[in-house]
Amino acid sequence: MNVKGVIFDLDGVICFTDEYHYLAWKEMADGMGVYFDREINNRLRGVSRMASLDIILERYSGPALTDAEKESLAAKKNDIYRSLLSRMSPADLSDEVKLTLDALRAKGLKLAIGSSSKNAPFILERIGLAGYFDAISDGNNISRSKPDPEVFLKAAEFLGLAPAECLVVEDAIAGAEAGHAGGFEVACVGDASEAKAGDHNMSCFAQLLEVL
Ligand code: BG6
Ligand code: MG
Repeated sequence: MNVKGVIFDLDGVICFTDEYHYLAWKEMADGMGVYFDREINNRLRGVSRMASLDIILERYSGPALTDAEKESLAAKKNDIYRSLLSRMSPADLSDEVKLTLDALRAKGLKLAIGSSSKNAPFILERIGLAGYFDAISDGNNISRSKPDPEVFLKAAEFLGLAPAECLVVEDAIAGAEAGHAGGFEVACVGDASEAKAGDHNMSCFAQLLEVL
């Protein structure tokens, strides 16, 4: 591979905020009497906040909700989620991830974030990676969520590289699909790796050093 840049998904790749998403959505869903469990939560991986809410509301059978009501529910979830994120610290960044990132950078690779989350800058700050990446493309600069490739295409553009020069690293199937749709080679960990959704399906993050 003629890789010059690596674009990392954040949640589930660099750090693990799944449980916080689950707890925040669960509190919101319980508050309105809507059934929600971890299996449904798995379907929210890589999906935008409003699209996640639509998935949760598949179990809602009350009167139709207006857009303003949906915005307010998403805002409520986000408030709970951010208060949980505030508990994160640099201790939530594993040595494996940090040492691997440093080793990739030492090889001369450009490193970027490609995340659907609007909270990406806050999470990076909490885990001590604010200012670490060469570019950040996240939920704040896109209008279409994964599996649309927009977030990765923007990340490559911010790095000044073509998709064919970048490797995307993902844990979500929707994210791996987004990478392929954008013309990127994709390396997967977690769920997406188990589903063999990537060109490289890794058992751990450090395996990137064998891929690159
Ligand atoms: C992704 C998560 O990183 O960000 C999704 O995998 C989440 O579960 C999405 O819905 C949007 O996050 P946020 O922080 O903008 O609500
Ligand atoms: Mg993810």
